[in-house]
Amino acid sequence: MDEGMMKTYARADEVFVDGRGAVLVDRDGKQFLDWLAGIAVSALGHAHPALTVALRDQVGKVVHLSNLFRHPYTEQVATRLCAHTGMAAAFFTNSGTEAMECALKLARKAMHVRGTPERTSFVALEGGFHGRSMGALSLTWGEKYRAPFQPLQQTTWVAPEDTAALTKALAAKPAALVLEPIQGEGGIRELSPEFLRAARELCTETGTILVHDEIQSGCGRTGRFLAAQHAGVTPDVVTLAKPIAAGLPMGVCMASAALADTFQKGEHGSTFAGGPLVCRAAMVFLDVLDDGLLEQVTARGDQLRRGLEALAERFPIVREVRGRGLMLGLRLHHSAQEVQKALYQEGLIVNCTAGDVLRIVPPFVLTAPQIEQGLECLAGVLARFPQEVAANG
Ligand SMILES: Cc1ncc(COP(=O)(O)O)c(C=O)c1O
Repeated sequence: MDEGMMKTYARADEVFVDGRGAVLVDRDGKQFLDWLAGIAVSALGHAHPALTVALRDQVGKVVHLSNLFRHPYTEQVATRLCAHTGMAAAFFTNSGTEAMECALKLARKAMHVRGTPERTSFVALEGGFHGRSMGALSLTWGEKYRAPFQPLQQTTWVAPEDTAALTKALAAKPAALVLEPIQGEGGIRELSPEFLRAARELCTETGTILVHDEIQSGCGRTGRFLAAQHAGVTPDVVTLAKPIAAGLPMGVCMASAALADTFQKGEHGSTFAGGPLVCRAAMVFLDVLDDGLLEQVTARGDQLRRGLEALAERFPIVREVRGRGLMLGLRLHHSAQEVQKALYQEGLIVNCTAGDVLRIVPPFVLTAPQIEQGLECLAGVLARFPQEVAANG
């Protein structure tokens, strides 16, 4: 197993060979209900017909060009993303981490443009996750991620919802504040609208660039294109990735009108990013999204939340239901990993974050019967765990 590979992943034994919608099939023909979507990625599920047709067509034409040449889709995707986010310009990347890297460089460059190059530091939130490159890792919370790779960039940490600490940190004039409106790896932890608005105001007052990392919460996962739109907050920079090209690797760093011209030619770049194949996939994703997918996310998200809340009432092992839309978490009075493994045996794929949270980030095309099926499976598995532990936990 994993021969010839670096030992960075604890992989499950199953080998998946097929899929359709929210269902995955392993090589023994066993079907799994996919409530993880490749970690909040495969928004259109597996083998979406429109995606299959578009990608087949594009593979038969041009797959790669580099950013030295134009193709019909880059500007179209960028313009549509600007309309959805209220931003003015996009820089395409190949991953969420690279989108964060772009955001950090953009903030530093903006400080140069403004004549305050001494503003080089960053402020980030405890529990945040932004990627693992040296820049993005500097803003990712958790010793286990960071310790072996020091020294990293200078970051001041603030606890979510601690407005007084945020005020103090921003008074020190950093280059940027970086936050996830809903922390994904941090346990599906939603920041309050009040905190998001306070962060916006404080950034404006102190001239700090506000970066929203919506790599996990964005692109419609919460029923709005951006999770921060529920709170009516617009950042200066927003990063997107995961579902945006329906499973193909694409990230994007979007900047507001004031920051759109911050980079000059040659100051940032990528060989692969924004190529014809991924942009074609992003066009399909945006077409399906604009054809009522957000309403579907809201409806299915409400159904799933109601079902999870009913489980929370029934099983004392469940501590709390968290999140919005189809970005939900079930916080337990127990190791979520053990429960996750048991669910997996029963054919339901979820994963575990922050130790005690089952993360549920299914494809947006999950159907109502698939929700009932998954809830039934969850009920059966939760019933097997000792509920009295929960009462003390
Ligand atoms: C909020 C957030 N930011 C950044 C990243 C990094 O994205 P990627 O793994 O595509 O580099 C992730 C990945 O899980 C994420 O959830």
